[in-house]
Amino acid sequence: MTDALRLVDITEDQLDAVLRVRARSFGPLPGSSREQWHKDAVEFLEDGRYVGVVDGDEVIAAARIWDFRQWWGGRQVPMAGIAGVVVSPEYRGRGVGSMLMRGVLQRSIDRGFPLTALYPATTVIYRKLGYEFGGGRYRFSFQAADLRSLGGRGVDIRRAGPADAGRFLELVAEAHEGGRASGVLGWPEAKVAEWLADDEDVFAYLADDGFVVYNWDGNNLRVDELIAHSETTARALWATVGSGSSTARTVHAYISPNDPVHLLAQLEADKETHVQHWMLRLLDAPAAIAARGFAPGVVAEVDLWLDDAEVPAHSGRWHLSVADGSGKLMPSEGTGDVLRLGSRGLSALYAGTPLATLRGSGLASGGSVAADGVLDTAFGGAPAYMLDFF
Ligand SMILES: CC(C)(COP(=O)(O)OP(=O)(O)OC[C@H]1O[C@@H](n2cnc3c(N)ncnc32)[C@H](O)[C@@H]1OP(=O)(O)O)[C@@H](O)C(=O)NCCC(=O)NCCS
Repeated sequence: MTDALRLVDITEDQLDAVLRVRARSFGPLPGSSREQWHKDAVEFLEDGRYVGVVDGDEVIAAARIWDFRQWWGGRQVPMAGIAGVVVSPEYRGRGVGSMLMRGVLQRSIDRGFPLTALYPATTVIYRKLGYEFGGGRYRFSFQAADLRSLGGRGVDIRRAGPADAGRFLELVAEAHEGGRASGVLGWPEAKVAEWLADDEDVFAYLADDGFVVYNWDGNNLRVDELIAHSETTARALWATVGSGSSTARTVHAYISPNDPVHLLAQLEADKETHVQHWMLRLLDAPAAIAARGFAPGVVAEVDLWLDDAEVPAHSGRWHLSVADGSGKLMPSEGTGDVLRLGSRGLSALYAGTPLATLRGSGLASGGSVAADGVLDTAFGGAPAYMLDFF
């Protein structure tokens, strides 16, 4: 690496250069998508969420930071979603990607995000910086004819549009708070309205206590989101999608592995479930613990030792208290052997990975194995899943 390499904020006149690096990383953008890409890029850079590396004047790497919220234990936590991480081929393997990602982590910390997440194309660079698998984006495939027969005929369903965005978000919040969901992204109302405005490509239907948004996926159909607060509404919404069975054989669905449809459908989902794993990292551990929810009734009082080379403020001994559905992480004056976690172990634990897995992969050590159950109970629960790719 030369001394001329610098972290910068990407500016609008550098976007053509970013697009060049991007084409060499992910393939060329089709002409029809360029305008939208440019428009999105400007939103990121105007808000200080487009970080790059330059060699002299030349842009050689870039990454963007989505301003997301993510449900954890039924509460929304601000999360920096990292995307479009690209390094020019001739600069790869020399630490440029790591330099860029350190800049991205610092920017995310400066912007007050307690968490960051990303979909990795390669895990190596992100693990070295403290990310670990947090959950999956699951796509299950059902037979349309099976869904068609689920019933729910008495339920009133109407076509939904942008004016329903607020109601959609109320139904989502009720479902995720009640189900203590983890992993799912929380979208602002304006973005949901934009999504629902696309009447040609997005088929959205609303019932009193649920909704579905689905679409074509080649010759099949694809459910992007389905929320139902009662069995009959779940039956009606799935049957509405399945009503396409004369022209679509399969319905793909982005849903939780725990979604009730698994228990409603007569036929098991296709055995070849598609899973894309995403990675998580804590950027401000006390804030991340304070913001998330925990299951009511869980009580934990545990000391632990954290090591974090990238976020030195994390390193040291901490005391975790969990009670009444909330948690607190405070510096501890305690002594003696306690559970030790690095950033990868802490991130995976936060996401609900059992301590036996963390010990078995070398991501946790020390303390008493007998005490692991308390932490497993505190952080465990429904598996963390995401519906969206970013
Ligand atoms: C992935 C990418 C960003 C890495 O950038 P880079 O500048 O080569 O990264 P670094 O030199 O800082 O590498 C950091 C570590 O990751 C490892 N690494 C980087 N790319 C890797 C790959 N494709 N496979 C396995 N390990 C990889 C490096 O070997 C290094 O580990 P080491 O210190 O043990 O050698 C770059 O290769 C790229 O732009 N690829 C194409 C686009 C892409 O996949 N982006 C990621 C989207 S999530």
